[in-house]
Amino acid sequence: MKKNFMKMMAVGAVAMGGSMGAMAQDVNLPAPDMKMQSMGVVEALATRHSVRNFSNKALSQQELSNLCWAALGKARDDEHRTAPTAMNRKEIRLFVFSAEKVWEYNARENSLRFVVDGDHRNLVAGGKAFSQDFVMDAPVSLVMVIDFDLFGSQNEQALMMGCVDAGNVSENINLYCQAVGLATVPRATMDVEGLKALLKLSDKQLPIMNNPVGWEKK
Ligand SMILES: Cc1cc2nc3c(=O)[nH]c(=O)nc-3n(C[C@H](O)[C@H](O)[C@H](O)COP(=O)(O)O)c2cc1C
Repeated sequence: MKKNFMKMMAVGAVAMGGSMGAMAQDVNLPAPDMKMQSMGVVEALATRHSVRNFSNKALSQQELSNLCWAALGKARDDEHRTAPTAMNRKEIRLFVFSAEKVWEYNARENSLRFVVDGDHRNLVAGGKAFSQDFVMDAPVSLVMVIDFDLFGSQNEQALMMGCVDAGNVSENINLYCQAVGLATVPRATMDVEGLKALLKLSDKQLPIMNNPVGWEKK
């Protein structure tokens, strides 16, 4: 019995090729590679474009680490991120959807906290009324959530700041992907209510943007 339980825990971690974190299915990501070869920022700005045609080739754990770090990883020190936020409130939370699981990125630890099992990329693709099925081809989708508890208030101004801050994170993803040859598109379409239920979010937490990320299918 005990042996089977240990085996199940190991399978959960190995599904991502990762080391065992505090919880069985959390993933300690490898340190982001700051010395990787990439396009310069001017060329990335000049050539950035949205891609809606993905192959299902997976991202390696190193690529996922680099991607999450570029989106809103730790920069300079524990208190700062690669994307600025209003008054440095760091109210944008980043969820990673794959074909197997959903995690939340922890910038301080550069790790993924397990949230739920299963492929829920259909909720990122859209709702019943409108869905963009190409999202299900991308190996991961990054979903940005404004957390008004972290912001410290929930009014019109807080919503505006949250939208701007999520846009900063999304643009980090756009430019990073362009620079390293990954494909992405910034998106507002998604099943917001479905995502809130899945992620057990309260009314103080709002899914606002997402970026499917992978390799362009030529
Ligand atoms: C806030 C925002 C929301 C967007 N939502 C969607 C979306 O739901 N679905 C989609 O396919 N593209 C979406 N886009 C992508 C835009 O359509 C795209 O950026 C625009 O057409 C310009 O093309 P480019 O990114 O190739 O320059 C969104 C872009 C932004 C900035």
